Amino acid sequence: MRFAGKSALVTGAASGIGRAAAELLAREGASRLLLVDRDADRLGKLELDCAVQALSGDVADPELWHAADLGEIDHAVINAGVAGAGLIADLDFAEWRRILSVNLDGAFLSLQAALRAVRDGGSIVTVASAAGLKPEPGIAAYGASKAGLIQLTKIAAKEFAKRRVRVNAIAPGGVETPVWDAVPMFADRAREIGRDAAFAELAAMATPLGRYAAAEEIAEQIAFLLSDQAATITGSVLLSDGGYTL
Ligand SMILES: NC(=O)c1ccc[n+]([C@@H]2O[C@H](COP(=O)([O-])OP(=O)(O)OC[C@H]3O[C@@H](n4cnc5c(N)ncnc54)[C@H](O)[C@@H]3O)[C@@H](O)[C@H]2O)c1
Repeated sequence: MRFAGKSALVTGAASGIGRAAAELLAREGASRLLLVDRDADRLGKLELDCAVQALSGDVADPELWHAADLGEIDHAVINAGVAGAGLIADLDFAEWRRILSVNLDGAFLSLQAALRAVRDGGSIVTVASAAGLKPEPGIAAYGASKAGLIQLTKIAAKEFAKRRVRVNAIAPGGVETPVWDAVPMFADRAREIGRDAAFAELAAMATPLGRYAAAEEIAEQIAFLLSDQAATITGSVLLSDGGYTL
């Protein structure tokens, strides 16, 4: 029981990586989870074996955080995020702002709330992306948001080291989660050949290991970074991308 009696904040907890992280923390003994997501329905359907405080709303809305009472927390997983694509020359400013608002403003407000509530010796993981490290055409807004989040994570690590609070980022490559269903190229292909085959095809294109991660695998790696096994690790980026950035 790696997290026995611990309390944690998880944002974007209703789906994908956030949901898998919340489930793992509960399985590993967490006694109180504060779960945040804008999808109130799916958030309400989560069944976890611990005390749950569900907060539905937009992580990029400062009012959400003003109204929230986090109490004292041991851990946080700053995970809520959205995807989007478009070449810089074609990108609408509104689309740029939509991505930056959730992935960077939202992550900043979540991280700030977590840092204000965290106990000395606690730990925090932000969910960045390999797209924040590897430049590719068409990912300007998403890639810039995740690059910004990586730097924000490192700065937080330095600001809070004196209180022995560790702050690390995980940078996944492809992960098989519902976020892909909103990507037209993937959704079209999934309709044609099935979801699993569409993921396999995507992975074969640019991931040397030839497969995407499962949300549960990323959750395990987040748990490692949160746990005492990673006691000497802070300000680092755990790249979990099947070799995509090589
Ligand atoms: N799936 C991948 O391939 C992949 C790869 C690298 C990084 N990531 C990152 O992992 C994180 C989780 O993504 P996922 O793949 O599990 O996607 P997902 O869509 O399954 O889950 C994201 C969750 O965040 C919530 N959310 C989105 N915007 C929000 C907002 N403004 N306020 C509150 N909640 C919000 C959604 O409702 C959803 O429940 C994201 O930050 C994403 O950028 C995903």
